[in-house]
Amino acid sequence: MEFVRSIWENDKDYMTLVEDLLESEDLLKLDDITHHHYTTRLIHSLFVSYVSYKIAKRLKLNVRAVARAGLLHDFFHECREEIALMNEGSHNCVHPKIAVKNAQRLTELSELEKDIILKHMFLTTTGVGIPKYKESMIVTCVDKYCAINEVSTPIRMKAKAKLAEWSLKLRVVHA
Ligand SMILES: [Fe+2]
Ligand SMILES: [Fe+2]
Repeated sequence: MEFVRSIWENDKDYMTLVEDLLESEDLLKLDDITHHHYTTRLIHSLFVSYVSYKIAKRLKLNVRAVARAGLLHDFFHECREEIALMNEGSHNCVHPKIAVKNAQRLTELSELEKDIILKHMFLTTTGVGIPKYKESMIVTCVDKYCAINEVSTPIRMKAKAKLAEWSLKLRVVHA
């Protein structure tokens, strides 16, 4: 799935839930940071937020918490090296805690939203604990799905280009 701007921007119900957050310059700075080699940290966060929101909506769960905490789950500006220099634990363990602090500067977080952000790295480290809510479980699963999708995008694009090249060569040979 290619995640293009129009997908979430045209969804008024979703935009109503997150538009105040998207006015924050601090959050928008995430668009300057490359994430998972191919995308930016902001687009990744919107991807996670929007896919999680759609699932939560279908399951009649707390869509507001999922959309907002999904958008804020990777709200940190530091790179891996800077986090390592903090000596507070692994990157997977530390960045959710930074994201909670930054999110709390921007908006009030409910217990549910805090759990979603803090536990989103569940299963990749022992340092974050087990998600307490169904909403937290959705976001941690969607985060992994989006990460795999983003990391594999350049490989899929290369494979597609190669296939197009071969099919063109075959057509020339058979012409
Ligand atoms: Fe993360
Ligand atoms: Fe993430």
